[in-house]
Parts: sequence; C-alpha cells; structure tokens
Amino acid sequence: MVGLKNFSLSLSLSEPMAATVAGIKHLAESGILTSVPSNYAFPLANSNPVSGSEIPTIDFSLLKNGTPDQRSQIIRDLGNACREWGIFVVINHGVAKCLMERILDACHDFFDLTEEEKREYVGKHVLDPIRYGTSFNPAVEKVFYWRDFIKIFVHPVFHSPDKPASFRKVASEYSTSIRNLARELLRGIAESMGLEGCYIDKALGLDSSLQIMAMNFYPYCPQPEVAMGLPAHSDHGLLTVLMQNDIGGLQVEHKGKWVLANPLPNSFLVNIGDHMEILSNGKYKSVVHRAVVNNKSARISIAMAHGPSLDALVAPAPELVDGKNHPPAYRAMKYKEYLEMQQSNQLNGKSILDTIRL
Ligand code: OGA
Ligand code: NI
Repeated sequence: MVGLKNFSLSLSLSEPMAATVAGIKHLAESGILTSVPSNYAFPLANSNPVSGSEIPTIDFSLLKNGTPDQRSQIIRDLGNACREWGIFVVINHGVAKCLMERILDACHDFFDLTEEEKREYVGKHVLDPIRYGTSFNPAVEKVFYWRDFIKIFVHPVFHSPDKPASFRKVASEYSTSIRNLARELLRGIAESMGLEGCYIDKALGLDSSLQIMAMNFYPYCPQPEVAMGLPAHSDHGLLTVLMQNDIGGLQVEHKGKWVLANPLPNSFLVNIGDHMEILSNGKYKSVVHRAVVNNKSARISIAMAHGPSLDALVAPAPELVDGKNHPPAYRAMKYKEYLEMQQSNQLNGKSILDTIRL
C-alpha cells in the first residue's frame, strides 16, 4: 500500500464535483498498488450468482433490408428481447469495423493524455457538454468506483475535446453512424409495441435528440473482487448502444441473476433505458447492469446514450394507457430534469425512476 497516504491527501470529499480527485487510471498504472485503497473498497463487489443464460441476438440487416416477412419476424424478436431482457446484441449492423477500431483507439489516446491535459475537461455542472471525471459522482460518494470517464454531448450540437488531435473527426463519424443505427432500432421497437414506426421520433423530438458519448476506462485492478467498475444501475434515455474492447466486465440482471455480457467481436450491445420504460408505460423495462473490473488489463467501453430532446416532456404513450388494465405507471417529467437528477445523485439501481412511479 506504499504511496496511498499521498494519494489520500489529494482527495478532499468536501470539494465540489471531481475537481480534486485524480483519475484512477493514473494511480492504478503507477505500479505502487498491491491492494485496493480503502476509499475504493467494496467488500462484496462480486458476490452474486452468475447465470448461464444468453442475451438475445438481433440481425439488424433483416430489419433494414429484409423481406416483409423477415422484417415482421425481427420486429417480433425485438419486442421479445425488450420485454424479456431489456438488452440485446446487434449483429450485421453495417457500422464499419475500422470505424469501431478507430473510435477505440481515440478513446485510448484520450485517456493516455496527462492528468493535467485531461483536467482541462473536468466539468463544473452535470449538464456541461464535455465532462471528464472519475467514479460516477465523487461529490456525493464515500467510496469510489474503479473507473474514469469522459462524457460528451454529440447531438443535437456536436462537441469534442480538442485533444488528441484526431479525436474530433472520428468521434463525429462514430456518433452519426450510431445515431442512425439507434433511430432505426427505435422505429422497429415502436412497431413492436403496435405504434407507428415514426411514433418515438415525433413524440420525443428526435431530430434534436440528446446523444451522449460516454467513454469509460476501467484500469487494471490489483484486487478486482473488492472494487466496483460501476454499481448496479439503469441508464437514462431510450437506448444505449455499447461497444467495448475485447475485455469483458459488463453484467446484466436477468430473472434475479447476473448474466455476463461477453463482447462478441464486431457487435453492439443495446439496452433499454428508463425513458423507454416510461414511454412504453412499463411494457419494456430498463435493464439493471453493472461493470466489474479485472486484474489482467484495462477495459474500455463506449456507451452511446440516445435520449429524447432535452426539452421533451416524457410520459407514458396515451396509446398504451387505458384506465382499466393499464393505468399510467409513471408521472410525466421533462427529460432535462430527469437527467440532471440522475447525474447529480448516487448511482443506485433504479432509484431515480422510482421517484416518478405512480
Ligand atoms: C454506463 C455503463 C457499462 C460498461 O456507462 O452507463 O453501464 O460496460 N457502462 O462500461
Ligand atoms: Ni449503464
């Protein structure tokens, strides 16, 4: 535990936001750690049972270019995946493999900047369009998660850090590709609920939808069994499209057990967020998931969150509500208010969604 004293001195829990908390990458890669510092220790981090069930797979090419029969079948499959899992693997998605490699490289290059360079991007407010930080919200956490992140608003206005030099171009290309994929999936999901394909686009103002690129860096950890990458939580927004390097770590909750979401080469994991649960009046539920860490090598994931327009008031779709069998299950709330609340509290299961359940 050499060097920990010095590190603790640089932490001050009374400071606002993450400004004084150094990224964990810096400490983990310094070579001085033989165990997890006490302010990162979650004694039962990995204690839950793991199930062998498999996350469903959706062949995107059939949604986009299939025959009418193939398309109807894949929309039924999408509906089942959303209802039973809240997460699915997307294959044949049409996003170029080299673009996926380039964005992973850009992500590596960003986290390889010096701590000083990265600090330029420390946000002051959770809605700042570029925000570098560590853990989830160190201002309100007593124990920190083993993760550094940068969150960038890439739509409706595209933002990007200026460093590294190549970041902006690839981030822009990647954001557009993934947004197109998400919008097509949202059309299929709307149809799977018996709504018109363009229902979500219109109801939630998707031409000015908020898209956030969250890049996560989980460094090598000397004691992965007592540290947490990200605790169990659901995502805000409608759909998150996640890719990762070849190191696994994501687990999703399914029927009371944790299921490993191992990275399939050249695929995306797509999960339902809280706003899809609200819009669908609980027909499709946001999936609870968490990220564990490992003692082999650093894990990178890029989570693209696709939400409504920031100004959209999100409520259960009237078409899915009836007074008798399906009363409204959530109170309406502006997406911006929800996002602000979710990002400025502790990350804790579905606690934010619970505040608007009726
Ligand atoms: C997230 C998230 C999971 C992962 O960023 O919200 O859940 O595997 N990430 O990094
Ligand atoms: Ni998440």
